[in-house]
Amino acid sequence: MKKEMTKLLLEYGIISSEEAEKIESINEETIAKSIKELGFNQTENITQEKIEENLDTEVLGKEIYCFRKVLSTNNIAKFLANHGSPEGTIVISEIQTKARGRSGTKWESPEGGIWMSIILRPNLEPAKASLITLAAGVAIAKTMRNRGIDAKIKWPNDVLIEGKKVSGVLTEANITFNKLDYVIVGVGIDTNLNIEDLSEDLKAGATTLHDEMKIEKVDENIIIADLLKEFEEIYKLYADQQIEAILKDWRDNSDTIGKYVEITQALGQKSIGYAVGINKEGSLIIEKTDGTLEKIISGRCRAIE
Ligand code: BTN
Repeated sequence: MKKEMTKLLLEYGIISSEEAEKIESINEETIAKSIKELGFNQTENITQEKIEENLDTEVLGKEIYCFRKVLSTNNIAKFLANHGSPEGTIVISEIQTKARGRSGTKWESPEGGIWMSIILRPNLEPAKASLITLAAGVAIAKTMRNRGIDAKIKWPNDVLIEGKKVSGVLTEANITFNKLDYVIVGVGIDTNLNIEDLSEDLKAGATTLHDEMKIEKVDENIIIADLLKEFEEIYKLYADQQIEAILKDWRDNSDTIGKYVEITQALGQKSIGYAVGINKEGSLIIEKTDGTLEKIISGRCRAIE
C-alpha cells in the first residue's frame, strides 16, 4: 500500500525521486495528508467539480478524490479510512490496473467506466454488513432504471441488463473487536468502454450503459451524482434499521427470485434450486428438488433456465 502511494506521490510531483528513495522516512500520516493533492485536475473526464455540479446529498461525496490511474480504488479508500477519512468519502479512478472483483476474481477496469469506492462507517454489528452490498446493488439498478433502462439485480449484487452484466459491487469491511470499523463499497459500472476491449471470457456476458442507452457518450459525472443520491436514500433506511424496506426494494428489482439457479460457493460446492427469497442477512434461500430449503450466505449465482 505504501508503495502504491509513493508511486502516486512521485507521479504527480508531490514528492521528489530523492524523497521517494528515502520513503522509509516518510510516515503514512504525511502520505495521507498529501493524497488530497493527488490526481486533482489530472483526470480527463471525471472531476470533483463536475460531480458536485449535480450532487444533492448530505453525506455521500462530501469528500471526493479523483485519480487518473490507480491499482484499485478500494486500496486507496482503505488507506484513507485507516487515516480517519470521514463517512461518505469517495475515491474514483478513470483507470484501475489491478482491480479486484468478488470471489478473488480480477476486475477489468480500462478507461470508460465508473470505478469508485465509498467509505462508510455504519454503527452496526458486522453480521449486517452484507446488507450494504445488497443496498448498493439496489441503488445502481435504480440509477439505471431512472434512465429508462430495464436493469435488474442478480443475487447478491450484480446489475444486469437483459441478462448481461453492466455493474458489480465488492464490499470490504474492517472489523475490530466485533465492531464494524468501516466498510468500503467498491462499485464498478461499465459506461463507455468498448466491449471488444474486454477479455474473451467476459465479452459475451457484458454490456455497457452507452450501448444500452444508445447514446454517443454517457456522462459519468452525472451518473455518479445520481448514484450517490440513490445510495444515500437507501443507506438512510439502513441506518434506521428499516431492513425490510431495503429487502423489498431488492426483491422488486431482482432478476434472481423465482428462477432456477445454481450457486457455486467458495470451496466449489454447488447448490441447485428455485430462488424463493432473501432473508434479513441478505442470504439467498433456495428450495431444492427434495423439498428442503437451503440458506446460502455467499457464492456465485447462475440462472439455469
Ligand atoms: C464483481 O466481481 O462483480 C465486483 C466488482 C467490483 C469492482 C469495483 S471497481 C471499484 C472497486 N475497486 C476494486 O478494485 N474493485 C471495486
